[in-house]
Amino acid sequence: MENAVSIMGISKSFQKKQVLKEISLDIHKGEIFGLLGPSGAGKTTLIKLITGQIKADRGEIRVLGLPVSERTKIYSQMGAMLDDSGIYERLSCYDNLKLFTDIYGINKSRIGEVLKQVGLSGEERTISASLSKGMRQRLIFARAILQEPKLLFMDEPTSALDPAMTAEIHGLIEEQKEKGATIFLTTHNMEEAAKLCDYIGLIHQRKIVEYGVPDALCRKYNELNQIQILFKNGETVTLPNSPESAETISASFRKNEVESIHSTEPDLETVFMKLTGRSLI
Ligand SMILES: Nc1ncnc2c1ncn2[C@@H]1O[C@H](COP(=O)(O)OP(=O)(O)OP(=O)(O)O)[C@@H](O)[C@H]1O
Ligand SMILES: [Mg+2]
Repeated sequence: MENAVSIMGISKSFQKKQVLKEISLDIHKGEIFGLLGPSGAGKTTLIKLITGQIKADRGEIRVLGLPVSERTKIYSQMGAMLDDSGIYERLSCYDNLKLFTDIYGINKSRIGEVLKQVGLSGEERTISASLSKGMRQRLIFARAILQEPKLLFMDEPTSALDPAMTAEIHGLIEEQKEKGATIFLTTHNMEEAAKLCDYIGLIHQRKIVEYGVPDALCRKYNELNQIQILFKNGETVTLPNSPESAETISASFRKNEVESIHSTEPDLETVFMKLTGRSLI
């Protein structure tokens, strides 16, 4: 598969403090990639490096086939939803987006289109300052997709949103994927990563400590994998998922004692705890 982003041996320090050390990572075209890591791990820094807002000390980054130093050629193919929302509070939803269509030479008809896409039709004249948090986030999303980007960066797009608003944003992200965009997002939310992302990378102590498909990562760390048996007499027994347990289980089945059985696999949160010894949040 072709890569939307290739990161090769990137290191970055601020003053004397090294934040990223020899990071290498590929983001495949058309996927949703989630970068996970505790606060201060360097997630935003990595986004800034890929989008060319800051420069790496060492290493190389290629974005949509070009070195990041030539990013101005591909700006029109990139969209971003970053920490600082960049919304002008005193302007209406329409005017906020119009600023960008003017700058990027995008047809104004696109404003109505994206507002509709994010469910803000009818709010064209609403002043941004008076938007609810969820609506505001959707306006920021609308701005990020104005240019129909092939590559979309989202720095914690759902932090501080309630579950309903989070689900809305997830829907919008998935819609972008269906349109063929590649999405690079950061999150603290393991559930979000497991549900939404095709690939994830875990960043810890300056390095990518794990990378892969969420399900596969969970299976890889399945020493915690256990089997729970509920007996007809109401008793529950937890056994390790091992060949020895299979013997016990089949014996119980033969005696017709088993009511139900299920296995527990670790979730991403558990995987992260095992790797880093700390919680993500
Ligand atoms: N411009 C800067 N100057 C000095 N230090 C910086 C600068 N930008 C980031 N850092 C430091 O680099 C480290 C990584 O910061 P970064 O914002 O990338 O973390 P993060 O993973 O995005 O954290 P969070 O989850 O809280 O957003 C932090 O220790 C931060 O203080
Ligand atoms: Mg950050």
